[in-house]
Amino acid sequence: MQEILITGGAGFTGTNFAAAYLAKGCRVTLFDNLSRKGSRENLEFLKRHAQAEHLSIIEGDIRQPTAAVKAAVERSDVLFHFAAQVAVTTSVADPRDDFEHNALGTLNMLELVRTSQGKHPVFFFASTNKVYGGMEDVVIEKGDTSYYYRDFPNGIPEDRILDFHSPYGCSKGAADQYVRDYARIYGIRSVVFRQSCIYGYRQFGIEDQGWVAWFVIAAILGRPITIYGDGMQVRDVLFVEDLIEAYDMAWNQIEVTSGQVFNIGGGPVNTMSLLQLLDILRNTLSIELPVTHTDWRPGDQPVYVSDIGKAEQTFGWRPRTNCRQGVAKLIAWVQENHPMLAQLF
Ligand SMILES: NC(=O)c1ccc[n+]([C@@H]2O[C@H](COP(=O)([O-])OP(=O)(O)OC[C@H]3O[C@@H](n4cnc5c(N)ncnc54)[C@H](O)[C@@H]3O)[C@@H](O)[C@H]2O)c1
Repeated sequence: MQEILITGGAGFTGTNFAAAYLAKGCRVTLFDNLSRKGSRENLEFLKRHAQAEHLSIIEGDIRQPTAAVKAAVERSDVLFHFAAQVAVTTSVADPRDDFEHNALGTLNMLELVRTSQGKHPVFFFASTNKVYGGMEDVVIEKGDTSYYYRDFPNGIPEDRILDFHSPYGCSKGAADQYVRDYARIYGIRSVVFRQSCIYGYRQFGIEDQGWVAWFVIAAILGRPITIYGDGMQVRDVLFVEDLIEAYDMAWNQIEVTSGQVFNIGGGPVNTMSLLQLLDILRNTLSIELPVTHTDWRPGDQPVYVSDIGKAEQTFGWRPRTNCRQGVAKLIAWVQENHPMLAQLF
């Protein structure tokens, strides 16, 4: 039976991964400090759906991993490292705290793998497109409801120059490079996914992080929505089930993926601007959706779209859920979980 360890396992991504691997009959250990809104609800959800002997929970912090975490690393086949401080805004307010979560926390987990007296799990790291910075040299054109790249029809590839911008970009970028280098220097089997915008079930999105889920939740609960800038900002969006498939396929082909970095997102065929998502919500829910506009946030990219060609060529993955289908699934989840979400938001 395969042993899976997930840091940040009670978060959005971690819970979806845990549910998927539990359903496959794996043993799953979650390591989380339960700091994120909704993480306790996610744990309760997993406990209701898992056989008790298949799910272990370590409540703790990647900044100070304990002997129980060391033991979990030593029995695991794979480690999905998702625990992080996730908001750019928070990182600007407290860069030291952000560094300790994202850079030091990742180094701590890598060290547990390097010094393991048991198994040496494959180490997956959820990095971010923010490591490419503002890409000010890339020419942006303006359409009717969205911006687009003039010269990158396939999106941004992995050989784009790194340009860490914001403390979050620096701390995740440092971790991204450590994870890659531990494969070179210590022979650890590690893979970095530079993720674009991921969305899906059990995502307790807020204005600062997880905008697709936040818009859907706010629209259904009738909470006020603010748009920073003109709303024509575009992202490639990826439904979480496709993300799970990407990691799983990369794990299955670890001989070729180890030590590599991949851009992972919805790619050029799954892009949405804020205005376009609001239109989908107005039409699907048949509601008025008033929004307030305010100034652009510093460092907000007008466009980010991943070139996902390397992932397809290397391990045969491409997304299967188009963004309209994905948003419809998310709407259904929010509607089914209306009472719980109304308490949280
Ligand atoms: N969701 C996205 O769109 C996206 C995009 C790019 C990268 N990422 C990366 O993917 C990972 C998962 O993101 P998510 O959206 O699931 O976030 P999330 O906030 O839902 O999950 C993170 C989890 O980590 C836990 N955590 C935070 N600090 C911790 C610490 N010091 N010790 C232990 N646990 C801690 C939180 O309680 C939470 O449950 C993060 O590393 C994030 O940077 C996410």
